[in-house]
Amino acid sequence: MPFYHKLGDMPKVKHTTFYKPDGKSLYREELASSKGFSGVYSNKYHHFLPTALKDAKAIASPSSFQEWKDAQVLFYHFFTYDKESSGNFINSRTVFLQNEHTTMATAKVTEDTDLFFRNAFHNEYIFIHHGQGNFLSEYGSFKFVEGDQLIIPRCTTYQLKFDNYDNNRLLLVESDTAFEIPKNYRNDYGQLTENAPYSERDFIIPDNLPAICEKGDFKVILKAGKKYFEHLLPHHPFDVVGWDGFLYPFALNIKSYHSKVGRIHLPPPTHLCFKTQNFVLCNFVPRPFDFHQEAIPTPYFHSNIDSDEVIYYVAGDFMSRKGVKEGSITLHPGGMPHGPQPGKTEESIGKKGTDEYAVMVDTFTPLRPTLNVKDTLDEGYSRSWLE
Ligand SMILES: [Fe+2]
Repeated sequence: MPFYHKLGDMPKVKHTTFYKPDGKSLYREELASSKGFSGVYSNKYHHFLPTALKDAKAIASPSSFQEWKDAQVLFYHFFTYDKESSGNFINSRTVFLQNEHTTMATAKVTEDTDLFFRNAFHNEYIFIHHGQGNFLSEYGSFKFVEGDQLIIPRCTTYQLKFDNYDNNRLLLVESDTAFEIPKNYRNDYGQLTENAPYSERDFIIPDNLPAICEKGDFKVILKAGKKYFEHLLPHHPFDVVGWDGFLYPFALNIKSYHSKVGRIHLPPPTHLCFKTQNFVLCNFVPRPFDFHQEAIPTPYFHSNIDSDEVIYYVAGDFMSRKGVKEGSITLHPGGMPHGPQPGKTEESIGKKGTDEYAVMVDTFTPLRPTLNVKDTLDEGYSRSWLE
C-alpha cells in the first residue's frame, strides 16, 4: 500500500525506548519490511516478544495441489461451485490453477475457527464474492462486505470472521511478489492521479487496533508454499499496541472501480486494478458500451502470446461467453487465439451496456490445472467455437 498510515501508540522517534505503563518494561519493536530493507515497510510495537514460540510441527496440507498431469493446452471452462468445499477460512480452499508464482483457489467457508493464519511465501488477494464480516490482524481490523478485494501482504497474521456461515464464497489468488497499484495510476509523489480508476478514499484500511495483551496458547497455521505448519504461541498474536508505515493489509471494493469507456473497444489494460511482477489483475464492472455508432462491444479475437488469461465470473450477463455461471472460471492459454463464442459478436452490436462483474488474472507464466479443474469441467467448452 503506497500510503503512510499510523494506528495506536508508538514512541516519538523510531528505535528509541518505549515503555509500558509500568515505566520499566519495554514494548518490542518489529520492523516488517519488503525487498530486504529497500521496499515498503512498517514498524510495529508488540506487548510481547514477536519471536516467542512454544512449539512448531508440520501438519497435513488441507488443500490438494495435485496437478492434472495430462491436461492439454486448451480452452477450459469449469464450475468452481460444483466442487464440494467446506471448512474454515484456512482449510476450505480448493486450488484450481497454479504455476511457480501463483495459485488460484476458491473457498466456501462454512465454519468459524480460533486458528490464526499466516502465509509465509505468498501475498494474498481475497475476493469476497459472498459473505461479510471482520478482517482481524496484528495491524488492526476492518469490516468487509461482498465485493471487497482484500490485499494481505505475506507474513501478516490474520483471521476472517464472518457474520454467519450460510453462504460465504471466496476467490483467492496467491502471489510470490506484492500486489501493487500500477505506477501509471500514481503521480511523481505517489498520489493517485485523476486518471486512476480509484482514489485513496476508496480504500478500506485497518482503523481499529484493540491490542490483545493476553498470555495463553494460540495456534497459528503457517503456510509455506505447499507445506503447512502449526505454530504454538505463548501469547495472543494481535498484541500490537501501535504501528506506522506503508506495509499493511487493505481492501478495495470492486464496486469502487471506476471503469473507462471508449468510442471503440478498449483492451483489458483499461480494466487494470492491481499488478504483480508475474501477473495483472483486472476488474470488469457494469458500464456503458463503446459509443461509435457502428462499434462492436465484444472483444475482437486476440492472441496474447505470452499470457494465460483467467476470468472468474462474479455476477451479471457476461457479454462474450455462453454457459458461464456465477463461480465459473475460464482459462484461455497463451498458446492459442481466443475471443467471443459464435453469435456473441453479432448479439452485442447495438447494445448499450453491460451489468457484468468479473475478475480477470493474466499471468506471464503458463498455468497448470489441478485435478479440481478436471472434476468440474464444462466438457464441450473447448469445441464451442465450431459453427
Ligand atoms: Fe482476452
